Parts: sequence; structure tokens; C-alpha cells
Amino acid sequence: MTHSAPRRVLSGMRPTGHLHMGHYKGVLENWLQLQRQHQCYFFAADWHALTTDYANPDIVRQTIWDMLIDWLAVGIDPAQSVIFIQSEVPEHAELHLLFSFMTPLPWLERVPTYKDQIEQLREKDLGTYGFLGYPLLQAADILIYLADAVPVGEDQVPHVELTREVARRFNHLYRKQGQPLFPEPAALLMPAAKLPGLDGRKMSKSYGNTIELAESWKTTEKKIKTMPTDPARVRRDDPGTPEKCPVWAYHRIYSSDEERQELDAGCRSAGIGCLDCKKVLLCHLEEELQPIRERREAIAGRMDDVRDIVREGNKKARLQASRTMDKVRRALKMGYRV
Ligand code: TRP
Ligand code: SF4
Repeated sequence: MTHSAPRRVLSGMRPTGHLHMGHYKGVLENWLQLQRQHQCYFFAADWHALTTDYANPDIVRQTIWDMLIDWLAVGIDPAQSVIFIQSEVPEHAELHLLFSFMTPLPWLERVPTYKDQIEQLREKDLGTYGFLGYPLLQAADILIYLADAVPVGEDQVPHVELTREVARRFNHLYRKQGQPLFPEPAALLMPAAKLPGLDGRKMSKSYGNTIELAESWKTTEKKIKTMPTDPARVRRDDPGTPEKCPVWAYHRIYSSDEERQELDAGCRSAGIGCLDCKKVLLCHLEEELQPIRERREAIAGRMDDVRDIVREGNKKARLQASRTMDKVRRALKMGYRV
């Protein structure tokens, strides 16, 4: 982000269990950078998980702590950022309700993720009220903290646009005089999936092509060693083409220019074998993953501290949310002082 003025940044993630390297390189590294410069709010979007997994609340329950531990292990820092759980701040639901009165249905029906997801998740019945409304819940998540910047992936940009429209409509309806209550937040677009999966497709649990932050080094090592390479390199002395190799996508991220030059030449001339090439990558991966894994183990062994961190975060979030809700209730002529 080029802005250096501190902003109020908010982002959420659905709990889906252990995080993988795709989350780390694509999302969490970005959050780490933001938290150094801005006031950040990061939350586990457990209600959002229920919009599609309402029939399996156990999953949310099981996965939420694994995700929060991974956040802490990579360095999301409770001293700098507010870390909390969405459902622990019920004000989000109140704001969502109030927004629902003034949001035209077509605004929600035309959100691209709506029809896409219904198509993609055919095994679940997503013809529900809450599923249609979930981008509006997201708008409430964002606006309740008066956030002005929201790091999201490309698929979520329309949700931030909807958030801006909702903010504008609210300000227009209820704040004709005086300062607008809600800022119109900007989407901070995160680069699409920087790190592909082990098979070259998008890294995703459902493809079984991930490296999890929590897995043992032995497991990661084995995965890299068995990772497919340029199919033209059947034997050691067959020359290869790095661009045709999933391993190369990793070198682009992890290796230095000099290393890449050398590996590129070695691959094309069959001067090196794939295992030599992978060893260079393994070195870099170990350097990155080792401290995360160590921190993760230490943190997972102190669950009481983790709960304290989240309890503190919930409290801070609730304070901010309730301040905003006071203003919202007043704007809507509620707050009866009885
Ligand atoms: N909808 C987002 C996702 O599925 C998660 C999310 C919920 C979120 N509320 C948010 C992201 C607010 C940014 C801001 O990935
Ligand atoms: Fe891929 Fe490296 Fe093997 Fe070339 S040498 S095919 S880049 S693993």
C-alpha cells in the first residue's frame, strides 16, 4: 500500500482450519505489513462460515482456534492489532439488521459471488435469506469499525463496493445535515494467489495440494521432493524448461536472481537434477517455516494465553462497535433513554 498515513484497516477470514502457505503468502504477509503502519482489526468470521455451513456448526467450532493460532504464529500481534471473533461482537448483527431495511434487493442479487457460489456449492442449499444477505453482513463488519481500508482478494472487491454504496445510502438517508457517519472504505487489492499449490493449480485444501503451516518439516520435505516437475525431464540427463515446472513458481518467490540464473541454466542443460533444484528451494522454505512452526508449537501449548488474547480483542472490538451503534441508533431516532 502506498498510503503512509495511518488508516483504520479491517479484514476477516472464515475459519477453515489449519492455514496453508497460500494463505500465508497471499493474505497474512499482507496483514503483517499493514499492522506495522495502521490500526488493524482482524477477525475470525464465524458467522460467515455459517452462511454456507449452517448445518455443521461443529466444523466452525473445531477450526476457529487452529486458525487463530496460525495467525499468532506468523506474527499477527495483539499488541498492534485487535484480534477477535465476529460472533463475540453481536453489534455486527444489529447493524446488519438495520442495514437490511434500506438495502434494495437487487444490490445483493447482482453480487457476482452470489450466483457463483450457489452453482459451485450445489450440494448445499444456499437458497437462504442469510446467504443472499451475507455481503451486507460484511458491510456491517467493516462499517461498524469505521474502517477506511479493507485488504481483500479480487473476488471480494464487489463486497467492498457494496459496502461503499451502503455507507453512502445511510449517510444520505440519516445524515443529511452534519458529518457523514460512515466513511466509504477502499478495497486494498491483494495479489491473487501468489503461491500456487504443489501441482501448479491454486493452492487449496480441496485439491489436496497444500503445505500447511502446522505440518512437520518431514512432511513438507517429502511433499516438495515428490512434487511434479517439467514432464520432459523423465531422466536425469533430459533437459527441462523451468516455465513448464511448478517448482519454478516457488523459485520465483523464494530464490534470489543469482540462484535463479544458475538453476535456469542447470535445468535447460540438464547440468543439475530436479532434486538439486528442489534442495535450494527446501533451504529457503525451511528458513521461513521453521520459526513459524516453533512459535506455533509454543503458542498451542499455552491455550489460556490465546484465549486471553482473543478475550481482550473481543472487548476492544465491542467497545468500538458499541460506540458506532450509539451513533447509528441516534441517527435512526432510537436510543430511548428509558
Ligand atoms: N467474506 C470474506 C471471505 O469470505 C470474509 C470477511 C467477512 C471479510 N467479513 C469481512 C473480509 C470484512 C474483509 C472484511 O473471505
Ligand atoms: Fe523444475 Fe528445477 Fe527440475 Fe527444472 S530442474 S524441471 S525447474 S525442478
